[in-house]
Amino acid sequence: MKPQVFPPGRTARKRDMSRTIHVRKADFIEGTLTVPGDKSVSHRAAILLGLAGGGQTAEVRNFLHSEDCLNTVKAMQGLGVSIQRPDLTTLHIEGAGDRLIEPRKVIDCGNSGTAMRLLAGVLAGQGFKSQLTGDASLCSRPMGRVMKPLTQMGAKLVSDKGNDCAPLTIHGTPLKAIHYESPVASAQIKSCILLAGLYAGGVTSLTEPVQSRDHTERMFRYLELPLVVEGLKYSIRPGVLPKSKNIMVPGDISSAAFWLVAAGAKPGASLRIEHLGLNPTRTGILNVLIRMGAKITEKLGADTGHEPMGSVEVDGAALKGVTIEGKEIPNVIDELPILAVAGALAHEGVTVIKDARELRVKETDRIAVMAANLRAVGVEVEDYEDGMAIRAGAKLRGAKVKSHGDHRIAMAMAVAGLFCEGEMIVEDCDCIDTSYPGFEADMNKIVIRK
Ligand code: S3P
Repeated sequence: MKPQVFPPGRTARKRDMSRTIHVRKADFIEGTLTVPGDKSVSHRAAILLGLAGGGQTAEVRNFLHSEDCLNTVKAMQGLGVSIQRPDLTTLHIEGAGDRLIEPRKVIDCGNSGTAMRLLAGVLAGQGFKSQLTGDASLCSRPMGRVMKPLTQMGAKLVSDKGNDCAPLTIHGTPLKAIHYESPVASAQIKSCILLAGLYAGGVTSLTEPVQSRDHTERMFRYLELPLVVEGLKYSIRPGVLPKSKNIMVPGDISSAAFWLVAAGAKPGASLRIEHLGLNPTRTGILNVLIRMGAKITEKLGADTGHEPMGSVEVDGAALKGVTIEGKEIPNVIDELPILAVAGALAHEGVTVIKDARELRVKETDRIAVMAANLRAVGVEVEDYEDGMAIRAGAKLRGAKVKSHGDHRIAMAMAVAGLFCEGEMIVEDCDCIDTSYPGFEADMNKIVIRK
């Protein structure tokens, strides 16, 4: 395999690059954990309950208290929604219904593509002007994918720099209903159009090429919005406000993924994760790890009313390389950095990731950054336009690597450090707080060193 020149990833945070994580090899991995609330569900809970009518207050429990999700809370507050936070992970939301107000400030979505794309859908059809911005990483990610369908609906939104990226200025205006065939399997595009459809002049519909995560559809149904799902076609009738109902956010399987791989790849390890979201559009990581040889037991528990939740037990094994491609990709899209690490930790074979071009437009170019970081610790990696191939069996040696401001890169490399000879130093780790506050503390709970 030919080494490739490393194209620099986008850097999310310029302001504070101080937090560095040092990780040494683990002797054992064992225990029981719960992980913080699901990021996708938390964003949607804050937005949809903010749009609820009826003047009632709903409670969100286990809300993800990460920077990304708290930015969405601030955005909704700026639009006139009353949100109290009686403790770290609880929100009390009294929706503004159809009385959202013009925000006094530019809405800062920080690092969050979900916040920006979903809010663009909400704001396009309001009777006022608004502006959306974000950090350097977010302002270099493609917004044309939501600007195009919104513009077809009659929305007046412009990319301030004319490059189809944020900052975006939105002149709210009445929207018309369209049918849109999304070329990309993206829950963010789907959710943006469905949210805009709440304010359109008729039934708005869209199709997606492959099933993407379905949290929006579940929450629309739970909050009694008139959504129709026929296969991969979604239609929404306007003029109905979400009901105000309590929401329990399950643990985020994308955060659990780091420990599932750490334990799954370590023969003799045994780990249990409780209160975990087990939505089938997100559990692809479990299927991949089972194919690689890990022993995994999934137990469904109490339903939250909108999302399945339960526990997962994993027993580690000598893993083997597998292929991850096609329809499975949207289901594991956020787990591909840590699955690339799993491929490196496998004892035999090559892990091939294909059809994952979307990785190039995440918080960083995750193909380029993961390939470079894995090579830095001694792994043989080939990277190509829509994925990478990772050869198993290398002896990993600790190195100094950069996250490039990408939370999932930082955490994936920290987990790789649990398997390295010598110390792994991961630089620029403040970004971890965008999705997993308490990551290092959780690592210390399950890692045992002699
Ligand atoms: C998300 C959807 C995914 C995912 C992101 C969260 C969501 O993005 O990568 O972290 O909450 O809708 P795409 O749907 O654009 O692939």
